[in-house]
Amino acid sequence: MLKILVLHGPNLNLLGQREPETYGRTTLAQIDAHLEDAAKDRATLRMLQSNHEGALVDALHEAMGWADGVLINPGAYTHTSVALRDAIAGARLPTVEVHLSNIHAREAFRHTSLLAPVCVGQICGFGWRSYLLGLQALMDHLEGGDNDVAR
Ligand code: DQA
Repeated sequence: MLKILVLHGPNLNLLGQREPETYGRTTLAQIDAHLEDAAKDRATLRMLQSNHEGALVDALHEAMGWADGVLINPGAYTHTSVALRDAIAGARLPTVEVHLSNIHAREAFRHTSLLAPVCVGQICGFGWRSYLLGLQALMDHLEGGDNDVAR
């Protein structure tokens, strides 16, 4: 069984009510339930949502002791956080970045991810299904499937 840390960044606790035209009406609890279903017998998941950058950094450090990989929606910290980037690089755990919205089709300040260069890959624009696609990709990557790319 794989062990995966699922991190949700700031404001994602408001999913369902927050700007539904951009982020949909699915709640974070519903997303977590979909992920548990998708992980089934392949992975055990630990979920954490925090609005605090340091708590997300701490979770990445702690994951070094138990996790095989990380699925993260860093929220707005995607575009600002050198600390999160350094934590992902330092933890050396394969990490997949996901976003509900297509950040490249939005305001210019969202086009840059400081984290993407230290992640295995990034999936965005598919609403809550971005998480499902990200989890699938991460599990395949960790299991060393033949669809791996060099990195
Ligand atoms: C987001 C995109 C970010 O730009 C934004 O700050 C969020 C959510 C997404 O999932 O689409 O909080 O990460």
